Amino acid sequence: MKPLKVMTIFGTRPEAIKMAPLVQEFAVRPEIEGICCVTAQHRQMLDSVLEIFHLTPDYDLNIMEPRQTLSTITSKCLLGMEDVMKKAQPDLVLVHGDTSTTFAGALAAYYQKVMVGHVEAGLRTGDKYSPFPEEMNRTLVGDIADLHFCPTVTNRDNLAREGITRGVFVTGNTVIDALKTTVRQDFQFSTQLLNELDYAHKKVILVTCHRRENYGAPMHHIMSALRRVAETFPDVELVYPVHLSPVVQQAAHEGLDGAPRVHLIEPLTADEMHNLMARCYLVMTDSGGLQEEAPALGKPVLVLRRETERPEAVTAGTVCLAGTEEESIFALARGLITEPAAYAGMARAVNPYGDGHACARITDAILWKFGRRDQPPQEFSAG
Ligand code: UD1
Ligand code: UDP
Repeated sequence: MKPLKVMTIFGTRPEAIKMAPLVQEFAVRPEIEGICCVTAQHRQMLDSVLEIFHLTPDYDLNIMEPRQTLSTITSKCLLGMEDVMKKAQPDLVLVHGDTSTTFAGALAAYYQKVMVGHVEAGLRTGDKYSPFPEEMNRTLVGDIADLHFCPTVTNRDNLAREGITRGVFVTGNTVIDALKTTVRQDFQFSTQLLNELDYAHKKVILVTCHRRENYGAPMHHIMSALRRVAETFPDVELVYPVHLSPVVQQAAHEGLDGAPRVHLIEPLTADEMHNLMARCYLVMTDSGGLQEEAPALGKPVLVLRRETERPEAVTAGTVCLAGTEEESIFALARGLITEPAAYAGMARAVNPYGDGHACARITDAILWKFGRRDQPPQEFSAG
């Protein structure tokens, strides 16, 4: 029997980190011929992931522009993808998460009447403008997709509420598969700063911030809170790898340049990021991926947003929604910096998002759906 042609499509840093272990899984499964297509919605930040995970795409649409708009990303992806699908003739297309690449990839496959699988399906806030445009992207892909690989039972329940009950599998999140390959006790960073930080005696706070709905006033308030944290607590070292978006670069530098013990650095490679997270004291972020990774590494997270589509770690007590107001962010950070009991209560390793076997489950579910396996995989349970 001929192997199944499964095309993975991704374009941004987080999609790449979360699809990389799946591309690697396909490479060792003889029943599957993996085809890798990148849109390069992100260029440098994508290439960094491709290098770390040793991936060479079969197709590269190379669409990124400085300060690109949602319309240009979506239309360039859609047009480029049409040609790729006609050439590659996949049996199944897999998209990931909720970016513009995700939405355009799913739509392009649908136009070619190719079956679509959605990895990281079923995450919802219920607010179509927050996160923007991710909530609408993933909801629309939910309608297009034939197979839905949900990280958690909560995600499956979200789909069920929308009437989506067929082709749904609870697999865990592939980000935990990736994390298991990158974190090492003896890891050496490429910069002197990260190798020489005094992780044992200083409180190293890892920060990221990039969401579109935080552009403008919310990002300004976040930067003010971070500056206050650094100025108030002399034992804090704040490490902030700044996203390459010009909007974010400007906000971060305007808000934090000159603040004491604040290190604004280039984006980190995925393995550096994971190992820095494993050593830091606290994470403050509006990132989706960091909210999933930090709990697995036992690090408390203050989420710099008003809502989250990842409530599992909030329920487990290791992630806290801090909002985007300066006062609420500062007060929560102060509690974790100055009150050992508050810190200990949140610094527990929990694994609500996966056990490191999501890619094997997704692959087995695909093979079962295509009649190449007798049984569906056993679902992920957070236990
Ligand atoms: C995108 C996703 C968001 C995801 C984020 C991950 C959409 C609409 N948004 O947002 O869901 O959380 O990626 O980081 O899909 N840039 C570079 N080099 C890079 C990457 C970005 O220069 O390697 C700059 C470019 O000027 C680009 C800008 O950043 O125009 C914004 O990139 P874009 O993909 O539009 O938005 P993100 O905020 O990164
Ligand atoms: N990440 C990275 N380097 C950085 C910042 C983040 O490798 O400088 C990783 C992080 O560990 C996670 C993913 O990128 O796996 C999250 O991406 P991002 O925050 O850009 O997007 P989101 O998850 O919010 O969509």
